Amino acid sequence: MTNTSTVTVRRASADDAGPLIAVLAEAFHEGPVADWLIPDPGDRRAVYYRYFTDAFYQGLAHGHVDTTADLSAVAIWYPRLEPPQGYTRERQEALERATGPYAAKFTLMEAMFDAFHPDEPHHYLAYIAVNPEQQNRGIGAALLSDYHRQLDTLGLPAYLEASNTRNRSLYLRLGYTPGPPLILPTDGIPIWRMWRGHQTPTGRSPFPPSPLPRRRTR
Ligand SMILES: CC(C)(COP(=O)(O)OP(=O)(O)OC[C@H]1O[C@@H](n2cnc3c(N)ncnc32)[C@H](O)[C@@H]1OP(=O)(O)O)[C@@H](O)C(=O)NCCC(=O)NCCS
Repeated sequence: MTNTSTVTVRRASADDAGPLIAVLAEAFHEGPVADWLIPDPGDRRAVYYRYFTDAFYQGLAHGHVDTTADLSAVAIWYPRLEPPQGYTRERQEALERATGPYAAKFTLMEAMFDAFHPDEPHHYLAYIAVNPEQQNRGIGAALLSDYHRQLDTLGLPAYLEASNTRNRSLYLRLGYTPGPPLILPTDGIPIWRMWRGHQTPTGRSPFPPSPLPRRRTR
């Protein structure tokens, strides 16, 4: 457990599922990507609870899930020390179960993320969310900074996709640099790929080259 000034960060467990899935679903409810994925706000809430239930348990099983002592925030990280295996049939089926008639856009977005995911060893921030009623109090920055300190000790970079200009500016302040953006078809919504390089004697390592195209795993 780490105390970052007034924010205490700890590892999440299955006991935290209810409140943290709600934080994820509610925090991601607004924004251009949410509007694109599911235009109807009522449908969006129902689908997002299912989608983030899956994301939370995937994070516990295969990644690292951090929260705060008051369960106001959650961050789901994945160590990616080797190039990813590609999009799997299992993932596709889980996505279709969670998102039903909206699966095509979720699949497209995840496939784009996957296709452009850097090969260089790093930790991937899949999701970060702060309870909407507690945003803008430094909680998100504290949660990220705690994990960044651990990555800096290990000499490892971090990678994420920023879904709007506001969270992008937070990441820029925390040491990330933007790479070539992804553009969601056909509405032209940008998603910024961002990289926080490991420290070198001359500064942080630069945004890595895009991976060669990968074929999906059947
Ligand atoms: C992005 C987020 C994790 C930041 O956590 P936070 O505790 O609110 O942020 P902090 O108080 O530490 O830092 C404030 C900065 O966060 C960003 N931010 C705050 N609220 C935000 C929101 N609703 N959406 C996007 N970015 C936001 C801004 O850059 C803000 O700085 P500004 O006021 O100068 O614009 C949180 O606001 C959130 O959950 N947003 C909605 C979900 C989201 O965008 N997740 C990230 C997906 S890539």
